[in-house]
Amino acid sequence: MLPIITVDNNCYDPILGSTYKVIQSTHTLKRITQLNDSLAGLKLMRSKAISALHILGTIAKKELSLDQISFDEVKMKVKKGLSEIKTGVKINKSLLEIYEKAIDASENPKQLDKCFSKLLKDTSSITTFNLQKTNNGQNGPTHIISYTRTSKKCLLPQLRNYVVKWSNWNEICSWRLYDVISKSLHMKTIELSKIAALDFKRLIHEKGDWVSESLEETISTDLKQLFIDILGRSIQTTDAQLMLMEKVKGSNLIDFAQTKYQYLDIEEKCDLFQKMGHLAMLDLLIGNTDRLIQTRYDANAKQYLLENITANLGNLMIDWFPDEDRFPLLYAIDNGIKTELITDVTQKDAYNKFIRNQFEDANMKADLADTIIGSIKNSFQDNAEVLAESSKESLTETLAKFDPILKDLQNSDVLKNALVKGLEEMSWKLKEDLLPFWNNNEALKLKRHLNDNFPTLLEAVSERFQIFNSKG
Ligand SMILES: Nc1ncnc2c1ncn2[C@@H]1O[C@H](COP(=O)(O)OP(=O)(O)O)[C@@H](O)[C@H]1O
Ligand SMILES: [Mg+2]
Repeated sequence: MLPIITVDNNCYDPILGSTYKVIQSTHTLKRITQLNDSLAGLKLMRSKAISALHILGTIAKKELSLDQISFDEVKMKVKKGLSEIKTGVKINKSLLEIYEKAIDASENPKQLDKCFSKLLKDTSSITTFNLQKTNNGQNGPTHIISYTRTSKKCLLPQLRNYVVKWSNWNEICSWRLYDVISKSLHMKTIELSKIAALDFKRLIHEKGDWVSESLEETISTDLKQLFIDILGRSIQTTDAQLMLMEKVKGSNLIDFAQTKYQYLDIEEKCDLFQKMGHLAMLDLLIGNTDRLIQTRYDANAKQYLLENITANLGNLMIDWFPDEDRFPLLYAIDNGIKTELITDVTQKDAYNKFIRNQFEDANMKADLADTIIGSIKNSFQDNAEVLAESSKESLTETLAKFDPILKDLQNSDVLKNALVKGLEEMSWKLKEDLLPFWNNNEALKLKRHLNDNFPTLLEAVSERFQIFNSKG
């Protein structure tokens, strides 16, 4: 009888688990990335090198178990074999570099055998390995990683699917804030993927379940170096904080608009725009001016104003597939608060006045929706231009990819009305429920987290939430 495979929903990807698991997964990632970089581009050539590696590993394990040649001889033979795999390997690369250190460090047959087991597992992981690197963000590119891994514990290879990026405490704390607030409102609204964070400066590992552990200094140094080897240094070259994330199924709104949007029915389209309205209102309150709502600070008048620039639709992800009978899930990613709205007293005051109007005046929601829709259209135009520049297609052709959504936005007010509905719903919910929640014990864990890691961010948002204390 076949064993029953059960899925444990609480079982996170190992990368969100204990420090030991993170170290283990990161070593694996480093080897697979190195292997990927060493192999030739052509699929047929690659497979020749992978197969040679597999044979070498299998024979080495066998020889070690048969005890016919000495432990040192096995080491020598494998090292020689690795250096001789040339077919399917790039000219300036050597597979020996990837495994040499671990082979040399093995002190007994058991350790060496483990090393060969990893090598063998790598040969199957590399066939499924996929790495997407985004353009440079604020701290450097985001790495979207996926590969399968065999293990003795599971019958089938397990999928490893996660995202890694250099980050900062603004992003980590904001993420927790969005997550807790959206869940506290008990409504079908935005989603947040699970995250874990590493702080190599303060020696903290905050796992997917929020539990923080202190990192030993040597472990932190090694782990940081591993990530530098894989990701390169952070743009600020401080390499201080790193975020590990669950990978969202689906695509950001720029890609979604070009591929799947056309398959949504009208109810699903409205649901998506309603959720975007929720997110925009939450962004407005929290102080994220980089996603759907852009603002301008007029320093002379000490005033914040709405501005129709270009939405950052790369910071919204949509999990929806045409064959699944459910509404789209909207994920908020790359969450953060505009720095001045944490640190600058005058700007904070001006902003609080500005958002009080947006929350209090019902007519403002239509203006807000118009501005958001303008920024969304601009974003599609900008993305079409970028696409045209980087491909052989003309701007007319690349812009046509956004036709389904652009036509909907131009030809009727249905999406705008859904956006207004979402803005109003979230505005009302926040007015009614946020302060009672914030002042309740339920928010204590979050507040403690923010206070421990970014007290001025906590102060700024607490102050901002008080705009609901003086509602008209
Ligand atoms: N958790 C995730 N799951 C899947 N894809 C992601 C995830 N996070 C980011 N991405 C992809 O990477 C892109 C850039 O990520 P983001 O966090 O916005 O970085 P940046 O700081 O470069 O803007 C996103 O637009 C999205 O396509
Ligand atoms: Mg982004």
